[in-house]
Amino acid sequence: MSKEVVLSGIRPTGFLHLGNYFGAMRNYVRMQNDYECYFFVADWHSLTTHPDTKTLQQSVLRVVAENIACGLDPEKAAFYVQSSVPEISELYLYLNMLAYKGELEKTTTFKDKVRLQPENVNAGLLTYPVLQAADILIHRAVKVPVGKDQEQHLEMARNFAERFNYRYGNVFPSPQAFNYGSELVKVMSLDGNGKMSKSENQMATLYLADTDEDIRKKIMKAKTDSGPTEPNSIKPDYIQNLFTLMGLVSNADTVAHFEQQFNQCTVRYGDMKKQLAEDMVQFIAPIREKAAALQNDTKQLKAIIEHGAAKARVSAQQTLQLVRDAVGVNYL
Ligand code: TRP
Repeated sequence: MSKEVVLSGIRPTGFLHLGNYFGAMRNYVRMQNDYECYFFVADWHSLTTHPDTKTLQQSVLRVVAENIACGLDPEKAAFYVQSSVPEISELYLYLNMLAYKGELEKTTTFKDKVRLQPENVNAGLLTYPVLQAADILIHRAVKVPVGKDQEQHLEMARNFAERFNYRYGNVFPSPQAFNYGSELVKVMSLDGNGKMSKSENQMATLYLADTDEDIRKKIMKAKTDSGPTEPNSIKPDYIQNLFTLMGLVSNADTVAHFEQQFNQCTVRYGDMKKQLAEDMVQFIAPIREKAAALQNDTKQLKAIIEHGAAKARVSAQQTLQLVRDAVGVNYL
């Protein structure tokens, strides 16, 4: 039996951080063993905000290197850059005929962007969800690992797929959000203000490219308080987060040790943070070094991207053939 198709897109914005790692990349690495996986860097989507092209190119290569350093295996998954699979853009064209101006204008992310960049409300921005639907449908993916913020886009992809099937004939399965159940870990920002992924405070975000010194400094500055005064107290968010981080990167004995101290009101957060900082350094340093080495090895990096594109295009061309037949644009 053929495996179910999993697909996800990664926006090449900024440096990847611990929230990305535990919220997404770690899951991709597991999924690549269980499913037919397609993971890609969404560089076309980035063009909707008119970034500096040189910076965009660097970000794309960095995101590729960082994902590989985290364990994404280009032999197991198809790992590619969106713009190297031109079939996506043709599917985008057909889907655009099925997407209505009214529904696109109502999309939350579009309305946010209109507010953020009123001087650049371009058609690409309006049709962002159509391009995303094309990304997914080009491989007839059924499982899409994404966060809550992408659910509306996914619902739109389902609608476009359904409309296509209804108008032209059954080509697309219905893509659904997918994660390994309750295991999705939320990593909070070190200042205690919301998710790490949303944090604008660089000092409160641990990046996979941070130096050992950065990591130590950031963790030692993480928000704490004077400690519990009642045995077995409930932990405030920002303290829970330190324990969560410890659970992710330290060994079980270490976590149990500080849990016990917390419950007995003898915990010293300075010591706890020192331990966490060292374990975090042990965790991040090998990823950082592997990513840096790969970023300097342009030849290998290019080979990975080419290999991914070749794999993705096989599947994309198969779908596009079905699409062209269904739409009736097959004259040859
Ligand atoms: N829009 C997604 C984000 O902002 C990125 C993305 C583009 C994506 N195409 C996709 C995610 C297809 C899942 C499937 O994170």
